[in-house]
Amino acid sequence: MIISVRSLSYDELKRNLSRDDKIVLWSCDTCVKHCGIAGMDKMTALEDMLKEDGYTVIKKELISESCQVNLAKKHKAAQEDLFNEATAIITLTCELGYQCVRNVFPKIKVIGTAKTFGSGNFSNKKGPILTSPLPNTGLELNPEGYSLKNLVETFDLQQGFFDFDKVPNPEKITITVDGKPLNVKKDANLLDELLANRMKIPHLCYDSSLGAIGACRMCLVKIEGKRGLVPSCCTQIEEGMVVTTEDEEIEKLRKSILQMIVAECGEEIQQSRDIRFWLRRYKITENRFKLSKQEEAVDDSDEVLIRDPNRCILCGRCVSACAKLSGQKVINFANRGSNTVTITGLNDNFANTDCAHCLACAHYCPTNAITPKAISKKISGYPFWTLITYPKKMTRSTRAG
Ligand code: FES
Repeated sequence: MIISVRSLSYDELKRNLSRDDKIVLWSCDTCVKHCGIAGMDKMTALEDMLKEDGYTVIKKELISESCQVNLAKKHKAAQEDLFNEATAIITLTCELGYQCVRNVFPKIKVIGTAKTFGSGNFSNKKGPILTSPLPNTGLELNPEGYSLKNLVETFDLQQGFFDFDKVPNPEKITITVDGKPLNVKKDANLLDELLANRMKIPHLCYDSSLGAIGACRMCLVKIEGKRGLVPSCCTQIEEGMVVTTEDEEIEKLRKSILQMIVAECGEEIQQSRDIRFWLRRYKITENRFKLSKQEEAVDDSDEVLIRDPNRCILCGRCVSACAKLSGQKVINFANRGSNTVTITGLNDNFANTDCAHCLACAHYCPTNAITPKAISKKISGYPFWTLITYPKKMTRSTRAG
């Protein structure tokens, strides 16, 4: 991944703007997002800050790869009226993305917000690490690499994303999990805290950046004083909580859910890494439910994405990612109960929808039901992020619990 750091403060950004500007925020959904300075949530935060200060933001554009000139041209062509009205574009992208937008919109003021240092990788422990600095940075090759903190200090840049990341230290409390005391953040999401404490809790539909969907029911736990089993992904931590994450009843239920998913989606779903992990963990080799899935046509119509409904487990991550991260709402649920399916547009082919190709759906899909075309041919059941460097929650260990 490409490593970038925020290069200007909020005051410097405002000095580049005028009160009359019609601003478009333009952000990338790949590396720069994983350096903590881009993505839909950051655009929304910046939009709020600018609006509070009396500026006019007319659109937020989330692009899968801002450094692709053709993609930027496509967005320009599709929204001619918007870009005729816009007078300023703030790019939450790497420097290459910024240059690309400048080339495509020569008549609009384009403001870059990041300095790019070269390529590197991401580890859950250390975050983004620069391993191959660009020659113009003057940095030497260093086997340890350079953390974002190193770069911020060495080059006198800005830490995090404007004021958005300045979160006060959360209050900690102790709850009881599986008979042992556990130190957790007060009012936090229970599943987040269990996973943060390295507990293996299956969760197919939850991702902290999308919020709780509560669809797969794999994360069910017992909480003293509450009736039945509750999804830990939809539960807020409370003082004195007593939680059971594993016992015979919970295991039996999780096994049944897994078998049902496989029965509904077909054998191919077992190629999903998450599903395989939990099938192995619960030693499921046979399915007591009958395969009921009818083979559905693969949607190959789009130039960027390919959708195979046969692999869909109806977890709702793509629906949530499309609505929350890209703001497009191109993917939705249709029908009810056992007839529920995911559809694109008004039950149309992907190619006939307003998909902005931000790739958020493919990024969050746990079963490869949606994959980018360029790499869908290369994979055989492995989520595409195993082929490229993606950060938190996208590694096998964190995704599997
Ligand atoms: S992870 Fe909690 S219901 Fe799916």
